[in-house]
Amino acid sequence: MLPNALQPSATDHIPVLAEEVRELLAVERGNTVVDATFGAGGHAALLAADLHGAGKLIAIDRDPAARSYFERFRRRTGVSARFLRGEFATVLGQLAQNDVKADAVLLDLGVSSMQIDQPTRGFSYAVDAPLDMRMDSTAEATAADYVNELDERELEIVFRRYGEERYARSIAREIGRRRRVERFERTGQLVDAIKAAIPAPARFGDGHPARRVFQALRIAVNDELGQLDQALPAAVEMLRPGGRLAVISFHSLEDRIVKRFFRDEQRGCVCPPDFPVCVCGREPVLRIVTPKAVRPTARETAVNPRAASARLRVAEKTE
Ligand SMILES: C[S@@+](CC[C@H](N)C(=O)[O-])C[C@H]1O[C@@H](n2cnc3c(N)ncnc32)[C@H](O)[C@@H]1O
Repeated sequence: MLPNALQPSATDHIPVLAEEVRELLAVERGNTVVDATFGAGGHAALLAADLHGAGKLIAIDRDPAARSYFERFRRRTGVSARFLRGEFATVLGQLAQNDVKADAVLLDLGVSSMQIDQPTRGFSYAVDAPLDMRMDSTAEATAADYVNELDERELEIVFRRYGEERYARSIAREIGRRRRVERFERTGQLVDAIKAAIPAPARFGDGHPARRVFQALRIAVNDELGQLDQALPAAVEMLRPGGRLAVISFHSLEDRIVKRFFRDEQRGCVCPPDFPVCVCGREPVLRIVTPKAVRPTARETAVNPRAASARLRVAEKTE
């Protein structure tokens, strides 16, 4: 349990799989912890408590709004900490290059509740708002830029690949038709176009009809899979032997990247399977701590429905 002073406030993001992360990262007094997705600092507060007043925490987030949460976190915990604003792929790479070493690295992927619930950020299909979806509000391209500027074929690919949207083609066509008349600026316009493009029975059941397209656009706008691909090796490079990397993902595309990366780094050898002996000499870099992804309990998802799709994987750097 967190001390009262560190409890999140009612509007904060509720940290997902928090006790499991804490147990599996097994932070100890004097450690260096990197929370690469700081958000409201919920996980960071738990991990900081395990430092018992010695050690340090490095917080990373691409969202400038996370800084105020970090200031609150530092005041409340008194832990030695610094905040680095930027993309975790870049920042982890820079830390690794500068020989900064860590005992624990956490990636809690996706968006925070504060981002989803802030209507002006445009992540939600539930309220009409500017079609934005940037986690980093200083980044160049918004969801509106994608929707207005990708050609129909590219839109279809984005919706199918990142959203597994069955009606990707007809939605892309409907967008193409509508934007010839009027530019897409609002989430409401996109929701209307999606509803018009899909057959009536598909508008009911399996969640909101715009859910998959919004997820797909968010992944594309924030290059979420590219960020993950680059961040994993950088995080491992930063780890001290025996240090642990924990990743919480929220959809199968992310989880597949993490699972494959852990498996490849545990195997070491990259020789083709038909080679009689290993000639690459590559040693295992990771030991997988969670052979199966850890899922939230029914009790957790009852309290926090946003945790439902979470999967946690943890690996340890070999000696
Ligand atoms: C799910 S929230 C993390 C919540 C946090 N663990 C907590 O307990 O409050 C994800 C956070 O990571 C940030 N984020 C996502 N992708 C990022 C990236 N590629 N680089 C830096 N920050 C990122 C988001 O801006 C968001 O604040």
